[in-house]
Amino acid sequence: NLMVTDSKCLRVKLVLLGDSGVGKSCIVLRFVRGHFEPTSKVTVGASFLSQTLALQDSTSVKFEIWDTAGQERYASLAPLYYRGAAVALVVYDITSLETFRKAQYWVKELQKHASPGIIMALVGNKADLHESRAVSFQDAMEYAEKNGMFFIETSAKTADNINQLFEVLLEA
Ligand code: GTP
Ligand code: MG
Repeated sequence: NLMVTDSKCLRVKLVLLGDSGVGKSCIVLRFVRGHFEPTSKVTVGASFLSQTLALQDSTSVKFEIWDTAGQERYASLAPLYYRGAAVALVVYDITSLETFRKAQYWVKELQKHASPGIIMALVGNKADLHESRAVSFQDAMEYAEKNGMFFIETSAKTADNINQLFEVLLEA
């Protein structure tokens, strides 16, 4: 299994993929540092952060998070980060159909080239902008179900469902 246990700490290598501007870095910063950076800079290459969660049974889980760059020019680097990952979060922006299509591209790539048994979640971010919604909850959920993925809508801005996103992965 790709999740390595050393003593009482489960280590989980996790990668975020998705179009530029969907909010991958903001999701990670919200989860790791607990705040929102509205002026978040475009990621170059990829960035690494980790966050440890204490579980009820006195064990803990350490997420080793690779936040990849969504700009097209970095697409060829993605395999470096998703190879060997236990979990992939494929992120889109609920106000942009284009980013939902890009998410489907990443799902196909992961199905072809990632480790068999990788846990995948489809993440519809910017849920706070529901008045500009372009991707329905139902359509995204059906797509995720068909592809054996978790599905969740989040907001890095309001923190809605950010912790739940990471907690739900532990049930897999
Ligand atoms: P790349 O690094 O280029 O791949 O982009 P990214 O996916 O990391 O996007 P990033 O996290 O930098 O977010 C881009 C912008 O979207 C941010 O500057 C925020 O202003 C905005 N943003 C991110 N998350 C949210 C959210 O949940 N709600 C709203 N309203 N805006 C968000
Ligand atoms: Mg980024």
